[in-house]
Amino acid sequence: MTKSTRSKRAYVETYGCQMNISDGELMEGILTNSGFEIVEGPENADVVLVNTCAIREHAENRVLGRVAQLNGLKRERPELVIGVTGCMAQRMGETLFERAPYVDLVMGPDGYRGLPDALENLEEYRTNRESRSSVRGPQLAILDLSLGENYQGLEQRRTEGPTAWIPIQRGCNHRCTFCIVPYVRGPEKNRDPLEILNEVRDLVTRGVTEVTLLGQTVNSYTFADLSFPNLLSEIAQVEGIRRVRFTSPHPNDVTPELVEVMATEPAVCEHLHLPAQSGNNRTLKRMLRRYTVEILLEKVEMVRAEIPEIALSTDIIVAFPGETDDEFRDTLELMKTVRFDEAFTYKYSAREGTPATRLPADQFVPPREAQARLEELIGVSRGIRAEVNAGEVGRTDEVLIERVARNPGQILGRTRRNKVVAFNGDSVRIGCYTQVMLETTTGATFAGREIGQPELVGGT
Ligand code: 5AD
Repeated sequence: MTKSTRSKRAYVETYGCQMNISDGELMEGILTNSGFEIVEGPENADVVLVNTCAIREHAENRVLGRVAQLNGLKRERPELVIGVTGCMAQRMGETLFERAPYVDLVMGPDGYRGLPDALENLEEYRTNRESRSSVRGPQLAILDLSLGENYQGLEQRRTEGPTAWIPIQRGCNHRCTFCIVPYVRGPEKNRDPLEILNEVRDLVTRGVTEVTLLGQTVNSYTFADLSFPNLLSEIAQVEGIRRVRFTSPHPNDVTPELVEVMATEPAVCEHLHLPAQSGNNRTLKRMLRRYTVEILLEKVEMVRAEIPEIALSTDIIVAFPGETDDEFRDTLELMKTVRFDEAFTYKYSAREGTPATRLPADQFVPPREAQARLEELIGVSRGIRAEVNAGEVGRTDEVLIERVARNPGQILGRTRRNKVVAFNGDSVRIGCYTQVMLETTTGATFAGREIGQPELVGGT
């Protein structure tokens, strides 16, 4: 598509969740296939795409700051194209052009297939009006949410390494009252399992041994008569795949069938993310989470009974509108009852257009109170994590070496239970599996020592 002699350079900068990282790879794949060269920074790029998150206001403010910064580059090089893609682009739409007039392209998550065309259109407009280059624009917004777009046939551009993200589902059919995702990613769309399995097999030939299946409620995946547990088990049996993870599940779809596959397929890792959001039934109901604390605890018991080694993580929101102090204390209780290995904790952030924003204004928890709740929850969850992890010290676990660690001479990997361990070793061993004794913990991560002979990649 490029008309100039050298290929155009594109830089994609991603914010937000794993799905967004995966979308960033998808955009890079689409751009590479249409002749772009992907570069690692904005300085030499012809096109900069900021791939954004809308889950909390804070995430959006960071992006607005970053885009303003990129405008500094555009002042030096007016031909630079700045695009904002992803969930925040979808949410703000053309109003983004008002907030950040130097943005040329706004594109929601269902528009990526059309990315090369959109960039070409922008370029054509520009060429046709070259004599008026001081005038702003043109600007292009691609915001259709498509029921049919299930990303079939599109290829990710993945960085080399032993692990890979695999989107198997996009969008969400739930309507949790705090959450913007259904409005920016549309309803649930599931990918054809044959395509998913082909992708996994192809990744194996490129040295990948661990895959993480992605979806907004990944375990509600269905395709024809194939359920998520069926798909999980098929992927776990692909020759060469040694580890399978998935995120984020909805607790209601943590079924006995799923737990059985997790317990019996050797490749499925002993880690489950179980987003609780709250430990209080009235709050859960008003969040429209569709489960009670009792149901959640039953799920935890079921999983622990079948997979005693399971590590559990969670997401919690504090200060949901109307949450009383006592109700918040129920969440602390839940944390103490379950003793999650890890908790990702958030202060409620009002997202325009979501049902919770329509709750009476006097129900909104004052910021100072919300902050105090968050800090108390963080204190409790970090304390539990430190205790749980202290109990792990002395264990020897299989580690997949993923990258170099911060300390020189050290490498870093994860255990099947998602514990991060650093130990002495050479970066040539990235991708290898090895046995590591967990020697000390900071509370969050571990320092370890290799035990015995390291294996080679994909070795048995
Ligand atoms: N405010 C705060 N946290 C939120 N999350 C989702 N929406 C909001 C919101 N409006 C959190 C939930 C979810 C995680 C990805 O982000 O805990 O599981």
